[in-house]
Formats: sequence, structure tokens, C-alpha cells
Amino acid sequence: MDSCDPLLLLERAFRAAIAQVSGADPAGVDPQVKASADPKHGDFQCNAALGLAKAMQAKPREIAERIVAAVDLGDLAERPEIAGPGFINVRLSTEALGRMLASLDSPGLGIAPAPLPHAVVVDLCGVNVAKQMHVGHLRATIIGDVVARLHERLGRKVWRENHLGDWGLPIAMTMASLRRQGRDFDRLTLEDLNAAYRAAQLEAKTDEPGLAAALSTHAGPHRVAELQVQSESAGAAERDAKATLLRLQSGDTATVRDWQRLIDVTMKEVLATARTLGVKLTDEHSRGESFYRDRLGPTVEAFLKSGLAKEDQGAIVVPFADRERPVLIRKGDGGFLYATTDLAAVRFRVQELDGGRVIYVVDARQRDHFKDVFDAIRLVGWDRLPDGTHAELSHLAFGSVMGKDKRPLKTRSGENYTLAALLEEAIHRGVEQVQRRAADPDAPTHALPQDELRRIGAAVGIGAVKYADLSGDPVRDYVFDLDRMIAFEGDTGPYIQYAHARIASLITRSGEGEAAIGASAFLAREPAERQLALCLLRFPGTVLGAAEHLAPQRLCAALHELANAFAGFYEACPVLKAPDAATRLARLRLSSLTRRVLAEGLGLLGIDAPERM
Ligand code: ARG
Repeated sequence: MDSCDPLLLLERAFRAAIAQVSGADPAGVDPQVKASADPKHGDFQCNAALGLAKAMQAKPREIAERIVAAVDLGDLAERPEIAGPGFINVRLSTEALGRMLASLDSPGLGIAPAPLPHAVVVDLCGVNVAKQMHVGHLRATIIGDVVARLHERLGRKVWRENHLGDWGLPIAMTMASLRRQGRDFDRLTLEDLNAAYRAAQLEAKTDEPGLAAALSTHAGPHRVAELQVQSESAGAAERDAKATLLRLQSGDTATVRDWQRLIDVTMKEVLATARTLGVKLTDEHSRGESFYRDRLGPTVEAFLKSGLAKEDQGAIVVPFADRERPVLIRKGDGGFLYATTDLAAVRFRVQELDGGRVIYVVDARQRDHFKDVFDAIRLVGWDRLPDGTHAELSHLAFGSVMGKDKRPLKTRSGENYTLAALLEEAIHRGVEQVQRRAADPDAPTHALPQDELRRIGAAVGIGAVKYADLSGDPVRDYVFDLDRMIAFEGDTGPYIQYAHARIASLITRSGEGEAAIGASAFLAREPAERQLALCLLRFPGTVLGAAEHLAPQRLCAALHELANAFAGFYEACPVLKAPDAATRLARLRLSSLTRRVLAEGLGLLGIDAPERM
């Protein structure tokens, strides 16, 4: 189904021609076709002649001429032109453009199923029980959701795994602290849990040197939390926490019931936030650390048995040949660690979920952790799938969200932002913006009821936050600036939503029905029409590329470019006042396809596309 991707068709034709000219095996030929940066040089360029000339000891122009003579483009393009030292410029024919647009304008929007032999596992969200979701979890949740959506759209089996931090000493500490306070576990709020968690951490004795080392190597919040309670000279609070942990581990009914309460309270808020965010995350995606509790002992055993692990001052570590830092998999007191759980989890995901691609959408500060885990997994061979191939393990690392002062984001009163508070503010701003616009008697939203305006405003506010988060290179930190994110101009979510809504109103105002528009021919003759057409035709390839490279930002950039191309088209080519009825319908059809692609793209980003704004 590549008939609507001109790049693929041109690559195929030029690969054959180059093979013929050079005598090489077509499979090994890189045809070097790319979109032209400047429409003056045609729509595409083939730059293979230059490299080939050297190998064939001929003039590049001469090689280019031979390629042009050999290439069979059918009616895809006009006869290519040779420019400069030997660039081959290709301009697609109007007929081919129309045909490819028609093929794109199908129910699947030209996105062909691209199944993989195995499932895709996306580790996303990863919140911790008894802790409020903060902005870091925003990124793990929405980037993870988009990566999952992209793969699902390509027809792949996706496992969304919320590796909930629901096991271990930090939770036992919180539980012990709440019990000491005599709290009623049936009436706890997440705020109560959060406060108890912090109080428990303060009570616990810290392992100062270990902590300093963990902090300086950016070991991540989890390792830090583990070290904070490692001290042998345990205080009363710690003894209590450890006893609670033991009761939990041995399945003591009352303790397990209280523990389940903490999970329920946390998950209630997490899932509510996921709904607000428009993220596909439900209870069935939760497979927390506790799921792996019975696999931790066997994990350590397997490493010991294979000779990969050794004892180090009572603890068990897996050393690596290329670095001094080993990975600790069992503490001196017999306790297991964050890494032990992740080793067991990789094994489960590869061997039991059949994950051929396991993607961890986790904070960049856990880079060392994942390097250690993946390396240890390869050493022990647990990346091997049932069919003997190796799973691809990736850490999709993301940077931090900063305040305008380039420091971690704080509220006006100086506290850390909870995710819920942040989203509430974004929605408030979106609603304000939409209501202001609706006050204009000419606005398409003017007559809408208030609750409809609020719904659109919420879509704008959430769309703004998500787009800003998704549109940059994930690994980079970014500044959370609602004013910039929510603007209807610039590289923002609302700009794309607005482009979509404007086209929807344009089509309504035309008075033409969908059937009449759909039955008209595509016509892309004017330069601005051609540019829009070429932009549309890149969409299926963009979706594939964004999934393969785990790069939602590619999809964002393509949608922004498409919204711009539409603006250029709309300015240069009157639609409703087109010179004749056929052109009017053809332009409406181009507009309607643009609307569909924008809606589809926003949908893949998990962003709503309101019909009016
Ligand atoms: N709960 C962890 C944290 O907040 C993130 C979990 C990420 N996933 C994983 N498989 N380690 O740091």
C-alpha cells in the first residue's frame, strides 16, 4: 500500500535505474532520493550520480544522464532535469499527485499495517504508591501513551505496563507511620499518604555516604530512597517499617489489606489524571513491582548459578567488564532492590509477554540504572525470545520540566506542583481563552452553550500541555510556560487544533455535503496546492518513522508543517470564491483531506480535535 508515498515510488524506480547503470545488485543500492528543500528544484531530488561517478570514474553529469535515460517513472513524474554537477530533479505530474491523494484519502489514511513478529511493551507512567503524581510522571505517562498509540496504529500488539512502585521499604515506612498515628485506612486521601511518606522519610536514618554517592551519580529517586533507609543502626521507626515489610512479604492478612488500601487511594487519583489527560491507562495496565515479588529470589539465584553474580561484603552484585560500578541485586540484609525487580520484569516481558521491543519511558536520570539492567540481562541471556531472536531493549529517556526560572517547577506559594494542580490551571487557561474568543459575534463558537465552551477550553488547555511536552526532543529539559504553550500562534497544540477547526468551519460554510466533496477529483496544480499535497503525502511515512524511532516529536513537527502548508494554500488559493465550481470542489476536497490528517495526527498524540474553536 505504498502507492500514496511518492518517496517510496521514486526510490524504487531510481534504485532499479542505478543498478542497471552501475551493474550493482539493486538490493544494495542507496538511491539517495529526498524531498527538495526548494520547489524551484522540483519536488524531489536524486543525488546518487555524484557518489557513483567516483566509483565509475566518469563525470557525474554523464552518470546522471544515464540514470535519467534508464529510469522508468511511468506517468509519476515529468522527465527529470539534471542540475548543477549532477543532481537529478523530479517534479511529480499533476495526474500522479491526484492519484496518490485519492489513495491517501482512504479509511486507513494510507497507513499500512506494519506488524512486528513480536509484541511491543511500553513501560509508562510508573507512579509510586503513596506519592502524589508530579510533573515527571506527566512525561512518562503521555510520551508512553503516544509511543503505544503509534505502534497500535501500525497494527502491533502493545502491552502498556504501569510499573507501579507498590512494594518495598518506602511503602512499608508509610504504612507503619500511618498505623502509629492510628489512622483509619478506609478514609485516607492521597494527601494523607503523601504526608505520611514524607514524615516517614524524615524519621528514617539515612546512609549518608551511600546517599551522597547515589546523588552524585544521578542514581535516580528510587535508589536514593533505598539508601535513605539502609542504616544498620535502625531507629525505632525503621524497625517498625522493617517489621511491617516482613508482615507484608509474608502475606499477613491485615497488613495486605492496608497495603491494598494505599494502592487503591493512589490509583484512584492516577486514573482520574489519566482520564483528564486523555491517556489510555486503566487498572488493567497496572503490573506493579509487587507482581515480581516471588521472582526476585530466583532472579538472584539465576545470576549466582551462572557465575555472573558474586558476593561483596554480604551483598550480591553483578560486576561488568567495562566499568567499575556493579549492579547491586541483593542487599546485605537480604532485601532486594529496584534493579532486581527490573531484571525480573525484563525477563517476564520478553519471555512471557513475547516483547520483541521493550521500551522504558523513564526519566533520563535513571540512565545508569537501565544501562546496568539491560547489560545484566544480556549477560544472562534473558533478552532471548522464544524463537531465539533478541529483544530490543530501549530506554526512552526524558528530561525535566522546569519553571520559568529554569529551576524545578514550583507553585506561587513555592511548593512542588502536583500534576493535578498543573492540569487544572491549564484547563482554566484554555477555557478562558475559548470564552474570550466566543464573545466575538463572528466566531463560530459564538452561539455555543457554556458547557460546550468549557469542553473545548479543556481540550485546548490539555492539548497545549501535551503538545509542548511531546514536540521537543524528549531527552531535553523544557520550560513549562503556559502562556507560550496555549497561544493559538506558533509551534503549539492549539495552533494545530485551530487549523483543524478552521477547516471544519470552512467546509460547513461551503454548504457542500461530504458526498459531493468526496466525489470530486483531486487537483493540485498551483504551487501552494502542490506544497500542501506533498505535505499530506508524507503523513504515512511520518507515522511509521515516529514509531520506529520512538520520536513523537516527528509527528508534532509534521502536523505543524501541515498546518502551515494549509495556511499558505488558503492564502494563495481562494476556496469558497474559487474561479469555477470544479476548482472550488477540488480545493474543498484538499481541505477536507487536510482536516482528516490533522485529526488523525492529533488523535495519535492523544489530543482532542474540536470542530469549532
Ligand atoms: N517508580 C519509578 C520512579 O518513580 C519509575 C518506574 C519506571 N519503570 C521501571 N520499570 N523501572 O522512579
